[in-house]
Amino acid sequence: MPPQNTHGYITDSTLSLLEESILLSYRHAFHAGNFADVLKHSVLYFVLEYMQQKDKGLTYIDTHAGAGMYRLNEDYAQKTGEYKQGIEPLMGLNELPKILIPYIQWIKEINTSQSLNLYPGSSAIAKHLFRYQDSAHLFELHPSDNQLLRKFTQSAKNTFIHQADGYKGLLSLLPPPSRRGVVLIDPPYEIKSDYKIAVKTMIESYQKFSTGTYILWYPVVDRKHVERMIKDFANSNVKNLLQIEFCRQTDSYSFGMTGTGLFIINPPWQLNEYAQKLLPFLSQKLGDSESFHTLTQLKEE
Ligand SMILES: C[S@@+](CC[C@H](N)C(=O)[O-])C[C@H]1O[C@@H](n2cnc3c(N)ncnc32)[C@H](O)[C@@H]1O
Repeated sequence: MPPQNTHGYITDSTLSLLEESILLSYRHAFHAGNFADVLKHSVLYFVLEYMQQKDKGLTYIDTHAGAGMYRLNEDYAQKTGEYKQGIEPLMGLNELPKILIPYIQWIKEINTSQSLNLYPGSSAIAKHLFRYQDSAHLFELHPSDNQLLRKFTQSAKNTFIHQADGYKGLLSLLPPPSRRGVVLIDPPYEIKSDYKIAVKTMIESYQKFSTGTYILWYPVVDRKHVERMIKDFANSNVKNLLQIEFCRQTDSYSFGMTGTGLFIINPPWQLNEYAQKLLPFLSQKLGDSESFHTLTQLKEE
């Protein structure tokens, strides 16, 4: 049993008490189904389905796995209402870009009533799509979300839940025995060092397993953090790196998260084409008049 402090929270010598209390106060349930989740989860859904076109087993590693399924009709989501500017407005639309169709269709199936009460997170997507030959490692440090995740995945085969640091955990698992892997790095960024550590971990992971597909999520809160991430990637030996970004509003320090993006190493070849349709659609449906989006091949193959 790893060491725990009085909160029952895993202690980690690299975390200060302040950092631990920041981590404890973050619950993804506040943000579930927001515009950033829509981009991240629709791309994850597409990537996993694409990788499953081959029969050989796939290993999925989620370094920041969250709780699995989120209830939008409960206090957390109701308090912020973020899903109302994210998944909710898309649910009733008949015309969707191709990449959104299976993801939205599945969310409709989960919500058996007319109202949108359940929103699936990254681990729920993996659980839904997984075949008997696939396996998953899900890291979640928060004790309550870890418990929820365990409960949610208890019937899932070949699924391993870790209450441990996802960055270190990821590096310890690479390369996966199957040599086919999808990695999601989805930190909360409540602690600013996440920007640096997430990129560093992705680059180190690539060095251990260069054929894996890696998805790193980031928020646009302060543009200089994103520029720094791009610079760190530019100075690395990573190849085939795509950046997808959707900003609901123009960059600003005063509005919190104005945009969201993904860095993807070794994306499926169709993703670029699909994102060209998805991004203007999200701008039109979820953005304001200054909304913008970018799709950039940061590193060639
Ligand atoms: C953005 S949320 C993840 C959402 C989830 N991936 C989803 O899509 O449903 C980030 C999560 O990471 C957890 N966390 C924070 N730092 C961590 C770390 N170093 N290792 C593992 N989990 C961590 C937080 O408790 C939080 O639940």
